[in-house]
Formats: sequence, C-alpha cells, structure tokens
Amino acid sequence: MSVTHAPQTADVLTRQDPELAEILLGELHRQSSTLQLIAAENFCSPAVLAALGSALANKYAEGYPGARHHGGCEIVDVAERLAVDRAKSLFGAEHANVQSHSGSSAVLAAYAALLRPGDTVLALGLPYGGHLTHGSPANFSGRWFDFVGYGVDAETGLIDHDQVRTLARTHRPKAIVCGSIAYPRHIDYAFFREVADEVGAYLIADAAHPIGLVAGGAAPSPVPYADVVCATTHKVLRGPRGGMILCGGDLAERVDRAVFPFTQGGAQMHTIAAKAVAFGEAATPAFAAYAHQVVANARVLAAALADEGLVVTTGGTDTHLVTADPAPLGVDGRTARGRLAAAGLVLDCCALPHADTRGLRLGTAAVTTQGMAEKEMERIAALLAGVVRGEVESVRAREEVRDLVGGFPPYPA
Ligand SMILES: Cc1ncc(COP(=O)(O)O)c(C=O)c1O
Repeated sequence: MSVTHAPQTADVLTRQDPELAEILLGELHRQSSTLQLIAAENFCSPAVLAALGSALANKYAEGYPGARHHGGCEIVDVAERLAVDRAKSLFGAEHANVQSHSGSSAVLAAYAALLRPGDTVLALGLPYGGHLTHGSPANFSGRWFDFVGYGVDAETGLIDHDQVRTLARTHRPKAIVCGSIAYPRHIDYAFFREVADEVGAYLIADAAHPIGLVAGGAAPSPVPYADVVCATTHKVLRGPRGGMILCGGDLAERVDRAVFPFTQGGAQMHTIAAKAVAFGEAATPAFAAYAHQVVANARVLAAALADEGLVVTTGGTDTHLVTADPAPLGVDGRTARGRLAAAGLVLDCCALPHADTRGLRLGTAAVTTQGMAEKEMERIAALLAGVVRGEVESVRAREEVRDLVGGFPPYPA
C-alpha cells in the first residue's frame, strides 16, 4: 500500500523516514478499516493527494496572480487562475477567492471584508448548529462582533423563520449569516435574502457543509442570493482541506484584500492546485451522480435510524447530514459515540436543539465515495443501533465493520 498516494513522494518517504511512514500507513489503515461517518470528512482522490504532495508545496506566493510579492510565480499563477476559473464556472460566481486556508479563515475574511468590530451580526445560535465562527465567545467572532442568535422550532427542528425576521427587525444587524454545522435541511436562501434586504444587512452564506452538494446539483445554491458565500473544500466537495469565498464582482476587491493581506500571508499553492483538481472533478457527471447518491444514502440512513428508535432531528434530511438523539435506546450521545468508536463506527456528537443531552451527527459523504449505497446504509443503521443498545459487543461489531468496509476500499491497494 502506498503511503501518500502521491506517486512522486510515497516511496521516498517510506525509505527515508520509516517511522513517519508507519504513522501515515497506520492512519490509512484506520480510515479504510473503520466506518467513516463524520459529516465533515471525505476521501479525496489520488489526483488531489498528488497535487498536495507536489513541488508547489515549496513555493511562496504572497499576493494574487500577476501581482505577487515573490519572484518565480509564473507557473503557480497559472495554477491559481485555473482554480479560480474552475470555481467560478462550477458555482456560477462572478468572483472566487481560493486562498482561504480553511473554512474558518474564509468566514474571518468575509467578516473583515464587510464588517467593523462591534457590528451586530445575526446568525444561527450555537446550540442549534451555528459554527464557532458564528459568535462563540471562545472565537474571534464572539469577541469582536455583537452576535444575536436565531434558533430552530422546538417541535419541527426547522429554522424559525418568524424569529429570524423579528430579530432582524429588532436588532438591524449589519450582516445575517445562514449556514450550520449540523442543520440537515436545505436553507431557504431566498428567504434570508429578503430579510437582509428589508433591514439593509449583508447576507453571508456559510455553505461549508452543503457546497459539494451544490456543485453536484443536489442542493440549492446560495450564490444567486448571498453577498458572500464562504465554504470549505474538503467536505462533500471532496477536495483538499481548505476554504474558499465566492462573491459578486462588486465585492471582489474587498474580499481579496480581506484574505490577503488582512487575514493571511502567503497562499498555499499546493493546496490551491489540489482545489483546482477537485473543482475539475466536481464539474463531471460522475460527481453529480455522487452528490445525489450522498443525499439518497443519507435519507435511507435517517429513515433506518428512526426505524431503530433514534429520534432523527427534523424527521429526516435533505443533505449528507443526519443528526439523531439516541436517548430512546437508553444512552446519551456521548456514551453512544464512545461505544460506536470502540466498534469502529467513527462519528461525532452534536448539540441537539432544545435538549440538555447531546446527540449523534453522521454524514454519508465518505461512505458514498467508497461506493456504498442504500443497502449498506440499512446495514450501518442496524449495526449502529445494536452497538448503542449494547446488544452487539464491540469485537463482533468490529468484525462486521471490517466485512462491510472490506468490499469498498477508499483507495486502490
Ligand atoms: C458551517 C461551518 N463553517 C465553518 C467551518 C470551519 O471550517 P474549518 O474547520 O476548515 O475551519 C465549518 C467546519 O466544519 C463549518 O461546518
């Protein structure tokens, strides 16, 4: 098995640094021998990994193509222009900035482009699935801005649109953020645009999670509605770990300056090249089929978990994400996650709206990349419930996980 899947480096690493090579192989083994159900993760392609492990990692490139602070950027300029052009074409955006090092960096830059410290921002509250960058006191966002949180309806788990409108009218925010780490339903971007226009606010869509579904035509796009769209490139989109920002031409210069030099230094050219590869892959019919299968799988997984007795938030999903309360099976989310981890099912806990205990957050991006389909989702749900209930002990569960994933290797051996 190759250590990195980047052909030019794999063998060298094994020879030169067997200690580190063993760690990489161990992680590859962990990823391919357990079930990857973390909603924020995926398996990027060998081509993406090859770009990440390329000579572009050596290059310093502060600035933007054609206007760099370093010499020797003529080749990486082509790579960045390609990534930008592919992102614009994939998402139908007038402008794309592909330099953000992560989703959080993209959000930071969006705020820097549009806001001043002390401005009021309306965003989904953290207990309902808002991200740390949406006003957590532990994050720059909560320290530098005055965040007001909207929530979800206690009965349906759906975003409380009446509350959004009322809070917007009361607080007159400078920006409204829509986007979540755990909301399993489509976001009504037209509604948020309407409210933002009514109160004179910018609309920032943090589409870190659904952007890959958007690329594949399996979820509505925020691009026609939001002033600025922030995203990650490594979730359903299946690219390298990183971020990007899409916006209209009118905000292009402000966004670019907010990324560099305001919040970041030199661009990571190997990651930008890998983003270009991922955007190219995401523009193919095969990726569109993948994105739709991700959603089909999540729907089956949600329904099967509900059949097993878990309480699925909002009663289902429109996306790759499923959140569920295992309490009816006799344990809280933290205990359930521990049992599942011991059994080889890797997933996250998450806050449950209007509940004191935590729930489980699952995603189907990675298992779908592996080629799993509806049948496997039913098998996963049954196994998960058996483990959580304590009916299937971890050794037997691990055997079943190995049997399940054995037929779906994420990378060729
Ligand atoms: C909605 C949302 N915004 C921002 C981020 C931050 O992305 P990163 O971890 O790349 O900083 C995430 C990550 O999961 C997210 O879900």
